[in-house]
Amino acid sequence: MIKEKANIAVFISGRGTNLKALILRSKKKDCNYKIAYVISNKKNAAGLKFAKKNRIATIIISHLFLKTEQKKLAKILITKSIKFICLAGFMKILSPYFLNFFKNKIINIHPSLLPKYKGLNTHLKALEAKEKFSGCTIHFVSKKLDSGKIIAKKKVKIFKKDTLKKLEKRVLKEENKLYPLVLEKLIRS
Ligand code: GAR
Repeated sequence: MIKEKANIAVFISGRGTNLKALILRSKKKDCNYKIAYVISNKKNAAGLKFAKKNRIATIIISHLFLKTEQKKLAKILITKSIKFICLAGFMKILSPYFLNFFKNKIINIHPSLLPKYKGLNTHLKALEAKEKFSGCTIHFVSKKLDSGKIIAKKKVKIFKKDTLKKLEKRVLKEENKLYPLVLEKLIRS
């Protein structure tokens, strides 16, 4: 049983399988974190339902997310002593202004073996390039898209007959396993 669990905030935009994996792990007695907030830039993001079902506070940010709103959110998270912010399918770029409040505290999961295939359509890019492997990467978030320091990677084999759907499913399964493990390791270190 861990007495002092680190407070975590998770930012999402969509279905939230990574959020779900993080939440499910957080419910275990031996887990060293708890999720204090789920933040979404989409009010209908499916992941919000799972957060609410688990009685986790949710916050919706606006499309513009102007500096005043960024400052307000940063204040809420700082007041709660948030140890890490996990981006989990959060499809909005955070401004340098917001990043500055949380130096080395924001991490992201990306569906490719970075530095290969930054941005969108990563699986399509890997298939088109006839890669033998794809996978996922967890990295610190920096001002440059998908370019911050790499924390962990998990390789996934690409088969000859792979389709986009099959590859995405296989990589996502590994993402869901990797994210809670890496987060716990970071908190311990
Ligand atoms: C995941 O594959 C994640 O790696 C990707 O969006 C998906 C979200 O799925 N993130 C990015 O592409 C960010 N650059 P989820 O909502 O089921 O966790």
